Amino acid sequence: MLRWSYGLTSGLLLTGLTAAVIADPVDDVLVIDEEIEMMTRVAPPEGHPLSEVISGWHYRTPETRALEADSFQNPGLLGVEQGESIWYTVDGTEGKSCGTCHGDAGESMKAVGSSYPKWHKATNRPINVELQINQCRVNNMGAEAYKFDKSGQKPLTAYIKHQALGNPVEVNLDEGDMQAWWEKGKELYYKRTGQLNLSCASCHEKNNGNYIRADHLSQGNVNGFPTYRLKQGTLISLHNRFRGCIRDTRAEFPAAFSDDLMALELYVTWRGTGLSVETPGVRQ
Ligand code: HEC
Ligand code: HEC
Repeated sequence: MLRWSYGLTSGLLLTGLTAAVIADPVDDVLVIDEEIEMMTRVAPPEGHPLSEVISGWHYRTPETRALEADSFQNPGLLGVEQGESIWYTVDGTEGKSCGTCHGDAGESMKAVGSSYPKWHKATNRPINVELQINQCRVNNMGAEAYKFDKSGQKPLTAYIKHQALGNPVEVNLDEGDMQAWWEKGKELYYKRTGQLNLSCASCHEKNNGNYIRADHLSQGNVNGFPTYRLKQGTLISLHNRFRGCIRDTRAEFPAAFSDDLMALELYVTWRGTGLSVETPGVRQ
């Protein structure tokens, strides 16, 4: 059966979708290391368009799901370990490491992965973990900011977010202008772009549960980022994923950390309210 019937212009996409089947997200529970019970299906926050918020984990194959359930097998944990060693590495003119000021990340960073993006007074915009790392490198260590996806950015982000493993995502929309950024993100989420004239919602809201080529479309939640992608064999940052999805509609994609992608990050994070932080999630 093909539910995709509204104005698709691309032969390529249509070919992929003619073979589409609708498959519900699997009924399964994620317990990491037989110890940490993860919230992967939750009631949506007020104003959410879907009746249930579901982690992308439910849309993956049994093999992929099993990798995430076992820390010894989750290949993303290597990146987390790398992040831990960066945490304790001195860098910059001040002779300091992250650990010098923040000590044990298991304590000091426990609440970070579930609560970002946050309002940042000093720059008068929302800040994500990647940009907070850069703030500390520049202002507190006398080190250079990491360029997008370069040097330690992905492993250190994964290490910090991993400290919140299992905690429910909740962003604070009451601070500063967060509400306006949320609105901007929502507008972008529903805006059709590119030669294919698709929005995020075309795939992740209207068609979640359908197959697009070989991929089972999820709700596009962000609670596992950076995620380990088996196809690429590496950790993938959130803004890289956003850019990939936008590129697939054959639209120009915005720069990482641009206002557009920061607004999207805030809005899409909110759509996943209540899901456990899975970082590093494992995806196809
Ligand atoms: C000289 C001390 C110092 C060093 C070194 C330092 N930081 Fe910070 N960090 C701070 C201070 C002070 C704050 C809170 C105020 C702010 O936002 O700048 C902070 C805030 C943070 C936060 C936000 C915490 C929260 O609860 O929202 C994160 C994340 C963070 N730092 C990560 C790092 C990382 C990663 C490194 C190493 C690359 C690092 N910091 C190095 C002093 C430091
Ligand atoms: C043409 C369809 C399509 C569009 C449009 C699209 N995506 Fe995706 N997206 C995918 C596919 C396919 C995947 C991989 C399978 C999955 O998780 O849905 C994916 C995955 C994702 C993921 C990772 C989910 C996870 O569990 O790791 C996020 C986040 C995401 N998309 C966000 C977005 C955002 C934000 C937009 C709009 C800017 C967007 N996508 C537009 C097809 C699309």
